[in-house]
Amino acid sequence: MFSPEGPTLRELAVQALSSVERGYDLLAPKFDHTPFRTPDTILDAVASALGGLGPFDDGLDLCCGTGAGLEVLEQVCRGSVTGLDISAGMLEVAQKRAESAERTGGPRVTLVRGDARALPFAPTPAFDLVVSFGAFGHFLPGELAGLFAQVRNVLRPGGRFAFPVVAPARPGSRAYWALLGFDAVMRVRNAVWKPPFVMYYRAFRLADVRRELTRAGFDVETRALPEFGRRPDGSPRCRLVVATCTS
Ligand SMILES: C[S@@+](CC[C@H](N)C(=O)[O-])C[C@H]1O[C@@H](n2cnc3c(N)ncnc32)[C@H](O)[C@@H]1O
Repeated sequence: MFSPEGPTLRELAVQALSSVERGYDLLAPKFDHTPFRTPDTILDAVASALGGLGPFDDGLDLCCGTGAGLEVLEQVCRGSVTGLDISAGMLEVAQKRAESAERTGGPRVTLVRGDARALPFAPTPAFDLVVSFGAFGHFLPGELAGLFAQVRNVLRPGGRFAFPVVAPARPGSRAYWALLGFDAVMRVRNAVWKPPFVMYYRAFRLADVRRELTRAGFDVETRALPEFGRRPDGSPRCRLVVATCTS
């Protein structure tokens, strides 16, 4: 599952018994060698889809980690690029990456430590595009309304919130049982161990996401990402959710 540069099983176990923030601080130096970093295939497909909707001025990567989504913003934003994350360790790695990209002519990137549930940018809307990759499993379904309201508040009128969503695993498939098993282990872990480490793969459902985005004041559309093809029933394997601020 991991390359030789990735974390050992022991390191992963220690991280999983920490809080989300501390766990990512510990994982940060090796994070880019794990499958948890959003793969380039997804980043490229999203950049290509957003290219058709842009250009945008100011972009924010919510829960930016080591900076995977910042690479997307650098391609589609002509103003500023900002990354926000709760983990100082992840931001440190993102900062090094941004500095080396700047040296080769990339835009200036600002990194901000903060909680996505209480964004430190209000009261003035500051962005035209907010993206997020691979982080929604860290939020409980009951937190989505608040999270989306935060994003809504930092977007200018007509601004967009965009993120990829992979189709849920087919019931009975190996991936289905693997994700079900992972979530079950995390539920047991969180029932018996503090601090909690919230990370559930199956809690983020497109129907709930649509409903909560609409309630938060977004017009919601989804676009198939053609690079990933379709399932036997014709539905896309991966979609881009594009939520537009209605005012
Ligand atoms: C799986 S990583 C994804 C990182 C990056 N977006 C990527 O695709 O490679 C999840 C990230 O979400 C961050 N995160 C989790 N909860 C957060 C919160 N409440 N506010 C801000 N960042 C958070 C973690 O610190 C971590 O960097």
